[in-house]
Amino acid sequence: MLFIMGDLNIKLKTPQTGEYDQPTGLLYSHHSFINNEFVKGVDGKTFEVINPTTEDVICSVHEASEKDVDIAVSAARKAFEGSWKTTTPNERGRLLVKLADLWEKNMDLLASVEALDNGKAFTMAKGDISAGANCLRYYGGWADKIQGKVVDTNAETFNYIKKEPIGVCGQIIPWNFPLLMWSWKIGPAIAAGNTVVLKTAEQTPLGGLVAAALVKEAGFPPGVINIISGFGKVAGAAISSHMDIDKVAFTGSTLVGRTIMKAAAGSNLKKVTLELGGKSPNIVFEDADIDNAISWVNFGIYFNHGQCCCAGSRIIVQDTIYDKFIQRFKERAAQNNVGDPFAKETFQGPQVSQLQFDRIMGYIEEGKKAGATVETGGKRKGDKGYFIEPTIFSNVTEDMRIVQEEIFGPVCTVSKFSTQEEAIKIGNNTNYGLAAAVHTKNLNTAIQVSNALKAGTVWVNQYNMLSHQLPFGGFKESGVGRELGDAALDNYIQVKTVSIRLGDALFG
Ligand code: NAI
Ligand code: MG
Repeated sequence: MLFIMGDLNIKLKTPQTGEYDQPTGLLYSHHSFINNEFVKGVDGKTFEVINPTTEDVICSVHEASEKDVDIAVSAARKAFEGSWKTTTPNERGRLLVKLADLWEKNMDLLASVEALDNGKAFTMAKGDISAGANCLRYYGGWADKIQGKVVDTNAETFNYIKKEPIGVCGQIIPWNFPLLMWSWKIGPAIAAGNTVVLKTAEQTPLGGLVAAALVKEAGFPPGVINIISGFGKVAGAAISSHMDIDKVAFTGSTLVGRTIMKAAAGSNLKKVTLELGGKSPNIVFEDADIDNAISWVNFGIYFNHGQCCCAGSRIIVQDTIYDKFIQRFKERAAQNNVGDPFAKETFQGPQVSQLQFDRIMGYIEEGKKAGATVETGGKRKGDKGYFIEPTIFSNVTEDMRIVQEEIFGPVCTVSKFSTQEEAIKIGNNTNYGLAAAVHTKNLNTAIQVSNALKAGTVWVNQYNMLSHQLPFGGFKESGVGRELGDAALDNYIQVKTVSIRLGDALFG
């Protein structure tokens, strides 16, 4: 199904929705462009979007160059200094809530596009859309509750602290949860009164453009939310080094996170928040309910095909139950349905791209060579599409690359511990610190281990249970700042102190 670019709206088809309108342009608005309309890139360049299930080209979309980033930024600037500044918090909230409603109304469409473009199971993608709508609505609720305060310092002054938006925010998102990340970024930024230029990942531009059409339908003024498709090294780099972007928020690899921080430092010292990689420990004590623990461990690593920043990829099991655990876990993993994202029973679809597929298969070969044992999986599934069998490695040592580096695929390692102290030591033996989990029935163990783990989120007797109400982000090299909850608003607010001298007594 190859579409040649012509119209900025093309017809695509998914098994779930049948034919639908897929925008393929960039969404930004500027005096020389029709407001809130999809437009072509200035250079007229396009790039192909691949279906990871079939490896076929779905269509092409317009690619943003540095010049397009400039145009989008000036549209966002104009809106920020103009109509958006005088839009009431109540109205900002109303628009976000309307957008959330539109996401829900278009749930099947948005989920289908995610399944088509990213390869995630349609049933799982619906969960993403529902969580994304909740996130947008939650921040809609916050818009008119962002309040400053009065601080008494002495009788001669009156002091108040105001919370102001930062300005134009650049947002760079990854391909693993294309629309969910769209909502996590846009919700708090807009609630706080900023305008945004958001770049989707080059692997998955389609969902962000369908959601952009909903931005227009919700009634956002032109220039407030600008969505562009393009590559990291071009459009992404232009955002992070832009002199008129006041803040950049990024989710992706730790490597690129460092590049973005450097670009911010080397340009206008824009504020930076980063949500990066992880190698999260999932610790199972001998007193845990073993069936439950195995279900959560399985979900912890194989959900979204292992393409989660918080994936529970290092499983650490008490020696007394280790053999039983491995036996039961490998039976469980082998039962996961891997296949067509649009099939009802599918849990795991293909990896997102050839590049990611090759990286993961490279890690599997590396693990075998280093002497680890493949308990199950370890191979490609089928001969078309980027499918990889759920894979478990045992007999690993702490220095192996498969134990230390983020694989970002359906691959985990299982290590052994004997004491609580040792479990904590192994759990913290990583440069990352995004998430962790503990499985135990003992309240002391649960709390002591949670307190000792250096991670932004610790789950007890569960895994991957995020909520838009709870902050999420990394310790150590997993990031800077927090997303979700009230904490995310802080990323998009700057504090202004106003101190007023009272009376007219002579100074000095
Ligand atoms: P990436 O970090 O290159 O891509 C993420 C986003 O950053 C994309 O929108 C990309 O266009 C943009 N980007 C890339 N280079 C940039 C640059 N120089 N300046 C500004 N923006 C740039 O990640 P990639 O290559 O897709 O995946 C590589 C690895 O990164 C994965 O195997 C995984 O380990 C990790 N990753 C982590 C994610 C997370 O949720 N924390 C999400 C995606 C990838
Ligand atoms: Mg794709």
